[in-house]
Parts: sequence; structure tokens; C-alpha cells
Amino acid sequence: MKGIVRFREPLAPYTTFRIGGEADRLFIPRGVAELAAFLRDAPKGEPVAILGWGSNILVSDRGVRGTVILTKGLNWIRMMGNRVRVGAGVKLARLLHELARAGLGGMEFMTGIPGTVGGAIRMNAGTAEGAVADRLVTLTALDRDGRVHHRARRETAFGYRRTSLPKDWVIVGAEFLLDQGEPNAIRASIRERLAARKGSQPLSMASAGSVFKNPPGDYAGRLIEAAGLKGVQVGAAQVSRAHANFIVNRGGATAADVLSLIDRIRTEVKKQFHIALELEIELFGEFEVPRQGSAGGG
Ligand code: EPU
Repeated sequence: MKGIVRFREPLAPYTTFRIGGEADRLFIPRGVAELAAFLRDAPKGEPVAILGWGSNILVSDRGVRGTVILTKGLNWIRMMGNRVRVGAGVKLARLLHELARAGLGGMEFMTGIPGTVGGAIRMNAGTAEGAVADRLVTLTALDRDGRVHHRARRETAFGYRRTSLPKDWVIVGAEFLLDQGEPNAIRASIRERLAARKGSQPLSMASAGSVFKNPPGDYAGRLIEAAGLKGVQVGAAQVSRAHANFIVNRGGATAADVLSLIDRIRTEVKKQFHIALELEIELFGEFEVPRQGSAGGG
């Protein structure tokens, strides 16, 4: 197999939560061709999971069976007039930096969202100002046989933190449409947003960002704070005092600690406000029961 392969690789260092057990096998393709060859040759029953910057996931303490593919080698950025072609493994922060340098604006609303381009498209990441699909022209993905598919924006349905792409497709790249702008003005608007975020989110602590989706018409952070849960801790996992929709790892937290805190939050918010919070982070690897939608009663 071409590309970098590691066996029984601990995944915690590849996640922003700093939590999680081992992958049976970690594969780091250095380009699309290596990834396509891997997918083509991999036995069909072999589980395959995609890991980008590891910023929106909770990896199981028991780790991940099969192969985890790390996308960081898909890292190209090519400007073409007011369009950019970018690899799925490029970090959003780096993309925004390069766009500003080229005088291309329109995606500054993504400032501060951790993660890679591929991960952001997969879950249509965004803020109150907009989502990644707003600027998408086309995306390129591989299916489980390693075949290449191009999809125009209009051929794919994007909703709040979701897309209609087949689950087993691997996004490898995308093209975005930007507006011509002035580099210093674009940089200033990025700096402004970063400052706002520093004031309201626990950015210096290990976390996975927003844990729950905002329920229609309300905010998970507001509800969790109103339920009196700020600062509540299970093991080394704690509801952040800076932003109640963040769980922070105070050092050595396990996935079990986080899950048990998630259950506690969902139970309390359900009891007090009759709202069932849904997970925004993804559970990655071997978990005993499907958690989504299961914990409302405790
Ligand atoms: N709030 C509280 N208590 C808290 C936290 C928030 O009362 O502890 C209230 C705030 O006062 C505000 C409301 O809840 O009225 C919303 O809070 P905020 O402005 O922080 O935005 P959010 O909806 O919690 C969303 C994204 C974030 C993104 C911010 C800023 C979701 C689930 N989260 O947070 O994305 O950074 O907007 O643009 O949509 C992420 O996805 O990982 C993430 C961090």
C-alpha cells in the first residue's frame, strides 16, 4: 500500500478533545491517487472512517476498528481568479489566511471554526452568519471503490449541519466562489471575529467545540446555563464556565466521562425545559449503544 500506514495508533493526539483509544490502522494518503488506490483495494467489509482535524468528534475509549484515514495530505490550495480549489485536508484557518492574502473575501464568517475543509463540508459547518455550502461551487469525492465523483452545489442538499452526500463517500476537495476584496480589510474582519470568539469560548482548553446543535428557536448554551449546569464535572470532563455548550477536558478525561456528562445535561434540560438536545459532535469508533436520541430519559 502506498501512503503512510501506522498500526494500533492512539487517536487522542489527533483530536482537539485529546481523548480516544487506538485505531487498528491509520492510513495517511499523500494525495488523491493514493487514497483512491487504497479504497479500490481495501476489502469491502473493512470499516473505513475519515479523520480531518479531529475537532468535532469524540473518539471511543475502545478506539476504532478497521482503518482510519487521515486527510491532512490532501492539502493543496489553488487560486483561479475569484475561485479557489482546495484539498479536503486543508485547515479552514489556513484557507482563510491564504484567501485574505489573495484579496478574496466572503468566507470570513467561517473564522474560528476549527477543522478542515472536508469536515466542514461534510457537516455543513457554519455560524449564525452562514454555512460553508453558501460559497461552495463543486465538491469532489471518492466512493468506496475509489471512483471520482464531482458534484455541483445544486446537486447536493445542504441543511443545518448536514448534507445529502452518501455516507461512505470521502470528500477529497472542493471549489469555492469568493468576492474580490482588499487584503487588509479582509484580515481586519477576521481579527474582529477571532477577538469576539476569544471572549465567549474556552479556546485555550481541549474541547470539541459546540457539543449540541442549537434547537429550533433557542440556543443549547443558553439552556444548559439556565439549567444550572455550568462548571458541572464528571471525572475530568467539565461543562465549560466560559460557554455552557462546550465540554472541556481538564486533563485525562475519558470518552466515558464525556458521555456521562452529556447524559446528565440532556436529562436536566429535558426535565426543566422539555427540550431534547441533539448531539452536534460525532461519536467516532466503538460505542456500546447508539447514543443519539437515546439519552433523553436518563
Ligand atoms: N449563551 C448563554 N450561556 C452560555 C453560552 C451562550 O446564555 O454559556 C447564550 C448567548 O448569550 C447567546 C446564545 O446563547 O445569546 C448563543 O451563544 P453564541 O453566540 O455563543 O453562539 P452559539 O449558538 O452557542 C454558534 C456555533 C459556534 C460558533 C458560534 C459563534 C452552533 C451549535 N454553534 O454557537 O460553533 O462558534 O455560533 O459564531 O451553531 C462549533 O460548531 O463547534 C462552534 C463553536
